[in-house]
Amino acid sequence: MSENNSDISAVNAGTSQSCEILPEKFNIGPFTMVIFGGSGDLSKRKLLPTLHHLCYDQNFPDEFAVIGFASSKRSNEDYRGIVKKAIEEFGEEPVRRECWEKFSKNLFYISGDFDDENSYRELSRLLKEVTKTTEKGTREIIYYMAVPPQFLPEIMEKLSLCNLCKGMFKPRLIVEKPFGRDRASAADLNNLILKAFDESQVYRIDHYLGKETVQNIMFFRFANSIFEPLWNRRYIDHVQITVAEAIGIENRARFYEKAGVVRDIVQNHMMQLLALVAMEPPIGFEADYIRNEKVKVYRTIRPMNGEYIDKFTIRGQYGAGTVNGKEVPGYRDEKDTFTDSNTPTFFAGRFYIDNWRWAGVPFYLRTGKRLKKRITEISIHFKQPPLRLFSSGCEIREPNILVLGIQPHEEISLHIGVKHPGIGNQLYPVNMGFNYERDLQGDVHFPLPYERLLLDCIKGDQTLFARQDGIEEMWSVVDPIIERWENTRAPGFPNYAAGTWGPERADELIQIEDRRWRTW
Ligand code: BG6
Repeated sequence: MSENNSDISAVNAGTSQSCEILPEKFNIGPFTMVIFGGSGDLSKRKLLPTLHHLCYDQNFPDEFAVIGFASSKRSNEDYRGIVKKAIEEFGEEPVRRECWEKFSKNLFYISGDFDDENSYRELSRLLKEVTKTTEKGTREIIYYMAVPPQFLPEIMEKLSLCNLCKGMFKPRLIVEKPFGRDRASAADLNNLILKAFDESQVYRIDHYLGKETVQNIMFFRFANSIFEPLWNRRYIDHVQITVAEAIGIENRARFYEKAGVVRDIVQNHMMQLLALVAMEPPIGFEADYIRNEKVKVYRTIRPMNGEYIDKFTIRGQYGAGTVNGKEVPGYRDEKDTFTDSNTPTFFAGRFYIDNWRWAGVPFYLRTGKRLKKRITEISIHFKQPPLRLFSSGCEIREPNILVLGIQPHEEISLHIGVKHPGIGNQLYPVNMGFNYERDLQGDVHFPLPYERLLLDCIKGDQTLFARQDGIEEMWSVVDPIIERWENTRAPGFPNYAAGTWGPERADELIQIEDRRWRTW
C-alpha cells in the first residue's frame, strides 16, 4: 500500500506515536437483499433504518436492491411508505431527501405466504429483473431471515425447490437468534440449512458481536503485550461477566415464557463474551482462525451435573419493585405470562474452563432482567500480592481489577492501589482508565451492531458470525442447566424484587468463596 492511499498515517509525536484514523469506506459492489418478514418488528426497528443509513454512509452503488417479502398484500409504493415511516420513527438520523430518492427506488415488495411456491417464482422473476449479474455471470443475493424460527424449514425448502440457492444465484443467508432451543434442535436446523447452503454462505447473527466494545476485547488482549503474560491461572484469581438489564420482558412474554434467561442471554451473548476473554490467540485475524479458538473454549468448559447445577447455579424471577424511580410489575403480572410461571429471568453461575491457561480459575456469570441498572461488563480480578506490607483504611483489600466496560460506559479501567498522601502508610484504591468518548479525539462514530454486521455480510466477512459447531457447543454448555431447571420447580419464585441485584443466593454463591460481585 503506498503512503498516499494508506488508511492510517502514523505521525511522530515526541517519543510516542499517534495515528490519524481516516474514515473507512469500502467499495461495495452490486447486491440484493431479500428480507423475509420485511415489514415485521425487526425489519422496521433495525434492518431498514440501518440499510438506509449505510446507503448514505457507505455510498451504496446504484445497482442494489432491497426486497421485502411478507404476507400482507401491498404494492411497492405502499411498502416504500411503510419503510419511510419506520426510518423516521426508529432511524438514528432523519430521512435525507437525496439519500431517500436513491434508497426508495431500489426498494421492492413481494407479498406471499412463506409456503406458497408461486410467491417464490414471483421472487425469482423480480430477482432476475433487479439484480445485476457479476462478471462471472452470477447474481449476489442475501436472504435475511427476519422471521420466527418455525418458518425457516418451509422457506429453506421453497428456496431450494425454486432454484433460488444455486445456479445463477449466489446467495448468502443471515439467520437471527434464537438458533434452536437446545443442541439437538440447533443441529437439526443446521442440517436443514446446510442442505440448501454451504457453511461459507451462512451468517448466524449475534448482535453482541457487532458491538464496538465487544470487538475491542480481542484488540485489547492481542495488540498490547503487557496484559497477555498475566492472562492466566498464575495471576488471575477469577473473572466476572455481568449482563444486567433494567428493562423487563417488554411485551415478549410469548417468546420469553418458552425461552427464559439461559436461552435468551447465556447461550449466546454471554458465551461469546466468555470465549473472547478466555480464548487462545488465533493464528490470524480471519474468521475461521478466530472461530476455531472460540469453539475450543466451549469444548473445555467443565460439564455440569445435577448436583453441581443445584449448588453452583442460581435462578431467579423478578417480583414487583422500583426501577429507576418507577414502580414496575413482577414477571408473573406482565401481560401474557403464567401466574405460576417457572421461567427464570435471572441467572448466576460458576464455570470452569479445564485447560492449561485457566485450570482452577472460576468464571462467575450473572445476568438478569429488571436489575438495578443496565450494565454489561467483564472484570478480571487479579490475585493479591503474597504479603500485606501496607495497612489499608478499610478492612477490604482491593485486588487489582481490570474492567472491560461494554455498555453503557464504553471503557477500560485498571484498579490499582497507591499510597495515600500523609505520614501513615495507607493504601488507597484508584483507577487508571480509558474511555472511548472521552479519550478518542475527533468525532467518533460508534457504528450500531447491525450496521457493522450487515456491512460485513455484504462484504462476505464471516468473522463476527457464529459457525455451526460453535452454536452447537454453546448449547452443550447450557443444555444441562436448562433441563434441570425445567424439570424442577423453582422454590420461592419470585425471589428478587425488581430494581435489586437479584436473589440473595446469588451473593452467597460467590461470597462463600470469599469473593464478591461488583456493584455500581
Ligand atoms: C436480546 C435479548 O438478544 O438482547 C433481549 O433477546 C435483551 O432479551 C437484548 O434485552 C439485550 O441487548 P442489548 O444490546 O440491549 O444488551
